[in-house]
Amino acid sequence: MATVYPSDHAALAAEPFALQEYYASCHANGSLALLFLPISRHSQNILHSPTHAASISIWSDRPAASRPRVSLIGNVTVFPDLSLTPDLARIQACYLDHHPDARWWLPGPREPHVAYWARFDPHSVYFVGGFGDKHYIGYVPLDMYQAAGRQGTGVAGRVLFDQQDHIP
Ligand SMILES: *[C@@H]1O[C@H](CO)[C@@H](O)[C@H](O)[C@H]1NC(C)=O
Ligand SMILES: *[C@@H]1O[C@H](CO)[C@@H](O)[C@H](O)[C@H]1NC(C)=O
Repeated sequence: MATVYPSDHAALAAEPFALQEYYASCHANGSLALLFLPISRHSQNILHSPTHAASISIWSDRPAASRPRVSLIGNVTVFPDLSLTPDLARIQACYLDHHPDARWWLPGPREPHVAYWARFDPHSVYFVGGFGDKHYIGYVPLDMYQAAGRQGTGVAGRVLFDQQDHIP
């Protein structure tokens, strides 16, 4: 994930910040489920961004110049009230399926302000298929990306989404 430090940050104003972050593809339209921990640097940057902006990079396999990867540019909607989180039971089951270790910091009644559910909605999709002479490199229309999962064709890297494949 990449976010940007707020413009009033003491030392790193407006600097980009990138760090690995869990996500899970639990939405039919390719939006991603996130666990939002307010204490994290990414969460702080997102909350300070007027549009809650973030970008998430996804790849098919070990990153290599010849392999496809995609950058999703979009924003994060946080659900501060657990009981108002849309589709809570399904999202939680889906997320845990991808990240069983996350069961220790799931949003819950015991420590209600430690973690929240959130959704990342891409508005732009930049795809690098591999080498430019052989593979497509460029933006992919959002509607094509959002429909890809339903068609099962894997357009724009929707086939790339299973992060659990990459975590030993
Ligand atoms: C994607 O789907 C979710 C429901 O799963 C919906 O809440 C969200 O608004 C959709 N995002 C976009 C960008 O259409
Ligand atoms: C995300 O961006 C869209 C416009 O692309 C905007 O309508 C929406 O309010 C933003 N969401 C948040 C949480 O800022």
